[in-house]
Amino acid sequence: MRTIQHLRLRKIAAGILEGAGATAQEAAIVSDALVDANLDGHDSHGMVRLPEYVRWMERGVIVIGAQIQVLDETGVFAVIDGNWGWGQVVGRQAMEVAIEKASKAGVGMVSVRQCSHLGRAGDYPLMAARRGMAAIMFLNTHGAGRIVAPWGGRERRLSANPIALSVPRSSGEPILVDISTCAIAGGKVRVALHSKKSVPPNCIIDAEGRPTTNPADFFGPPEGALLPFGGHKGFALALLSDILAGALSGAGCSRPDATRVGNSFLAIVIDIPRFRDRKAFDADVDQLVEYVKSSKLAPGFTEILIPGEPERRERAHRERDGIPIDEETWRQIHETASRYGIRGESVCSQV
Ligand SMILES: NC(=O)c1ccc[n+]([C@@H]2O[C@H](COP(=O)([O-])OP(=O)(O)OC[C@H]3O[C@@H](n4cnc5c(N)ncnc54)[C@H](O)[C@@H]3O)[C@@H](O)[C@H]2O)c1
Repeated sequence: MRTIQHLRLRKIAAGILEGAGATAQEAAIVSDALVDANLDGHDSHGMVRLPEYVRWMERGVIVIGAQIQVLDETGVFAVIDGNWGWGQVVGRQAMEVAIEKASKAGVGMVSVRQCSHLGRAGDYPLMAARRGMAAIMFLNTHGAGRIVAPWGGRERRLSANPIALSVPRSSGEPILVDISTCAIAGGKVRVALHSKKSVPPNCIIDAEGRPTTNPADFFGPPEGALLPFGGHKGFALALLSDILAGALSGAGCSRPDATRVGNSFLAIVIDIPRFRDRKAFDADVDQLVEYVKSSKLAPGFTEILIPGEPERRERAHRERDGIPIDEETWRQIHETASRYGIRGESVCSQV
């Protein structure tokens, strides 16, 4: 394990992406999104993704320079085709459309297909919350990327189908709920494999449907599966996220013949003052947070945290002390950089 300062990592990631053919603007947006995921403590969506993103770019799964296309719209909603551009770019552009509509109509919605991997789902509702709006987002993986068993099953049938919601607070940072609907994100199983660690109990099953904590049982062969979080409840949300993201946008839902992994999504943005006086809304949110935090603690807990707080704390810590990168991830990043000659090599030799 090595520790690298975030500014250095941003430079390394952007250098490799640009060296591999992304535009300077795409490289800057994607590298910042990856390193921000590391800073927030979500290593599963950080630099570990870089080699895979470059492979996708090489195979044309991610289309460099693609522009979003509005297929249909009213004052409230838009149906958008991302033309398989970078998820981090298409996602941000589509959210701008939803935010703009919400600022005029009170609510703005976008249904998006052919968008490459978005990275952390929470980045997008957070864009709205930073501008004083609430937002919710449902994702699927364009019908491909099936890694989760349905509740009661032992074969992969669903993707991680995340749901992300954010609410602004005048008295502090937005509340951010950003969760996959599986018990553990697939990327975290990969991080555990690379770091030679086990995963927590009740997160994965092996090919026979037996509970296991060995990440290798998930990858196989024969391959196991992730479990939905919270049993039948997480499964129900995964199913609905798949439908709202995939069936509504035209990307399609989880199915055996889908092979191109991307993220289709539905985002809904709410301009709070159009519903209720912002001060009154804030007072209700603050009262709720204070009331929830006032509970006596359960055994083993030292504090009650509000969603979004763990990431902010980890960020403060990692901004100061650097980001830990495991050796296997580092080897893959270096190998990817070296495929693009001197530029990549010199980028990596900075460390
Ligand atoms: N693009 C995709 O297809 C895709 C697929 C899967 C996951 N993801 C991303 O992976 C990331 C990780 O997902 P995950 O399911 O592992 O998330 P997770 O299980 O780590 O849960 C994270 C959420 O729980 C909150 N939280 C954590 N500890 C808490 C505590 N003690 N008290 C209160 N709230 C707490 C966090 O603030 C955050 O909102 C997310 O950013 C998600 O969007 C993306």
